[in-house]
Amino acid sequence: MATGEDSRLNRRRLLTGAGLALSAATLASTATAQQPAVEPPTDPDFHDPDETTAAQVQPPPSAEPIPKGATDWNWVRGQWALDWSLVDLSAMLFASNPRLVRNAIDRHRRGLDASPVTYLENRNRPLQNAARAAAGQYFDVKAEDVALVESTTSGIGLLYAGMDLRYGTEVLTTTHDYYVTHEALRLAAARRGASVRKITLFDRSEDATIDQIVGRIIGNIRPETRVLALTWVHSSTGLKMPIRAIADALAPINAQRAPLDRVLFCVDGVHGFGVENTTLPQLGCDVLVAGCHKWLFGPRGTGVIIGSPAAWARVTPTVPSFLAPNAYGAWLGGYDPGPTTGARMTPGGFKAFEHVWAMTEAFQFHTMVGKQAIEGRTQGLAARLKLGLSNMPHISLKTPMDSRLSAGIVSFDVAGLSADGVVRRLRALNIIGSAAPYATRHVRLTPSMRNTTEDIDYALGALAGMTRR
Ligand SMILES: Cc1ncc(COP(=O)(O)O)c(C=O)c1O
Repeated sequence: MATGEDSRLNRRRLLTGAGLALSAATLASTATAQQPAVEPPTDPDFHDPDETTAAQVQPPPSAEPIPKGATDWNWVRGQWALDWSLVDLSAMLFASNPRLVRNAIDRHRRGLDASPVTYLENRNRPLQNAARAAAGQYFDVKAEDVALVESTTSGIGLLYAGMDLRYGTEVLTTTHDYYVTHEALRLAAARRGASVRKITLFDRSEDATIDQIVGRIIGNIRPETRVLALTWVHSSTGLKMPIRAIADALAPINAQRAPLDRVLFCVDGVHGFGVENTTLPQLGCDVLVAGCHKWLFGPRGTGVIIGSPAAWARVTPTVPSFLAPNAYGAWLGGYDPGPTTGARMTPGGFKAFEHVWAMTEAFQFHTMVGKQAIEGRTQGLAARLKLGLSNMPHISLKTPMDSRLSAGIVSFDVAGLSADGVVRRLRALNIIGSAAPYATRHVRLTPSMRNTTEDIDYALGALAGMTRR
């Protein structure tokens, strides 16, 4: 006999297989009318390889009504070629790309396969600079303040390896940060002699307050503190740090210090970038590092370091740049290439350029859908999930309900079950979540703009019936 879980699963399979009457063209044209006009890049030779298969990859649209003038999320969802028999609630891990990005990668791949050298010669520098400009526009900084890297991990590694973390200075970070920040700091400090101090900001993430977090950080800044290394959205609990409030509280301390002694505020921003409707000046930190292959749904193997000019002045590149305009001239002429810039912080070498160049389309896609709409959709679905979980006595939610302290990650425990056990049971129901790779492991479900309210309700239904057997 089918269990409750099985019948829900079958219902989903049925939905997915139904083929659902709306055509791709109808959805696309409806949405085009509602989207702000952003011209996709044109290429006269370009034939959209997806056109022929679009009908097969269309997802089941949500039955949710679309208010007049609002974003058509069914159209947005239809930009992906996911396996729609799965409910993917793992946008925080690794991106699959929307059509605009897939097509750009494909176009460049075909160009490179036809003639790698000539295709590269004419395009590389302008296309990398276009990607930097697109990232800059997205986050309201100049293109020259953007470095292109391959991931959050490589960006964080390059950032801290390049800092003057000499003996007698310290970096302040927290016990809540991820392995990547901790390990990059450990390696940098071991080379340079600085110390790294980790503080705890709260005992229970779900009850944390902005005042408590800001107070703990500011109370721990010492005369020797030169760097504050934090994470925008914690990937263990989903807590979103109040970056602006921390930056504001840090400002009077820094105002008393000489420029090179100021506390440089550096953020692993990967789980806010592509979700939150903000910019670097609005956030107020000095440097933000983010992979573009998670919430931004950009090409896999891409990321950015976005810094203020004051921050670049505190960092030295580690990997030789091919992008800085005078890189080879300085080498041949035997002179110093000058101050650090985003171009000089962009590692050189030949790369998977079709991915690097298609970063531009990832930023265009987000702009086309709208940063505000994406934030609202992601937070709205996360709020629905949190509310549902908070009403289940066997589940303890770790992510704050307050949207000032949370973004798209929803973390929780299920009584009597390990996080890995819950993730396994969810997978058996075609729901893709993950367990946080921290000392204390929580289950994470992370809705994104590709999900529907039906996806959330399906996951809630699965979790409602999940108890120890
Ligand atoms: C907070 C945080 N930073 C960095 C990473 C790694 O990101 P990337 O794949 O861009 O290096 C993760 C995990 O995926 C993470 O949770």
